[in-house]
Amino acid sequence: TTGFQNILVEKKGKVGVVTLNRPKALNALSDGLINEINSAVKQFQEDKEVGSIIITGSEKAFAAGADIKEMEKKTLAEAYNTDMLAQWHDLTYIRKPIIAAVNGYALGGGCELAMMCDIIIAGDKAVFGQPEIKLGTIPGCGGTQRLIRAIGKSKAMELVLTGNNMNAVEAEKAGLVSRVVPAEELLAEAMKTAEKIASYSQLTVSMAKEAVNSSYELTLKEGIHFERRIFHATFGTHDQKEGMSAFVEKRTPTWHNK
Ligand code: CAA
Repeated sequence: TTGFQNILVEKKGKVGVVTLNRPKALNALSDGLINEINSAVKQFQEDKEVGSIIITGSEKAFAAGADIKEMEKKTLAEAYNTDMLAQWHDLTYIRKPIIAAVNGYALGGGCELAMMCDIIIAGDKAVFGQPEIKLGTIPGCGGTQRLIRAIGKSKAMELVLTGNNMNAVEAEKAGLVSRVVPAEELLAEAMKTAEKIASYSQLTVSMAKEAVNSSYELTLKEGIHFERRIFHATFGTHDQKEGMSAFVEKRTPTWHNK
């Protein structure tokens, strides 16, 4: 958890916290910053003590997008040959739940980073948008795909085509964020949610995350089938036996993540 230039990483009990820390650039997502986020969350994935992860930024900015200064001079050949932005998706291979705690600007790649997380909790000053159109480009990391699934076509299209921003209340109403809390309570609220998730069986939590995420990829019929099979699979675990016995015996379960 040391040696990072652009992020702060800490473990608070069972919760791994990654704080984007490039204040001079409003946490613009340079390759270096993205690589550090990826390596921090991979470390948390490997860490048996960690049950859930929070990614957050500063009060002013979660992240103001991909780093425009890094992209400005890039040629098509460079972008294509390096498969620019492809490594951002590594975050979606993390199997522990990730909460984006968003204060301030979540624009462009910042909004896309938040949408790659499993739950977005917003501070009341949060601002979401896909302003790439103003730069002569388009969202490159899920903004045209995940946003439409989150808020529907008309709203997504309007954000992407106008570059207009959406405030926290609008984002909640549209379903992009799970809830809005006062900015100064954001981290505490995200911690409460993260701690609650981390208090359950990590094994079962990962299965639940996988089942929910499969709905992005599968037809309803396939998704329902997959869900039922994972549900069945929980009956092969110690933790399902323990969870149900504890309920019947009116005691607190002890999870063994197996
Ligand atoms: N990349 C690089 N630097 C950025 C940046 C970005 N995305 N966003 C802000 N910065 C830098 C600014 O250049 C400025 O640096 P200097 O002090 O060296 O000039 C510093 O951060 C502070 O920014 P501002 O002075 O602009 O702060 P502000 O409070 O006046 O405005 C803002 C805040 C509205 C967020 C404004 O900074 C802004 O519009 N940023 C760009 C937002 C954007 O277009 N994001 C999309 C990027 S493209 C993308 O993300 C592609 C993709 O799909 C992955």
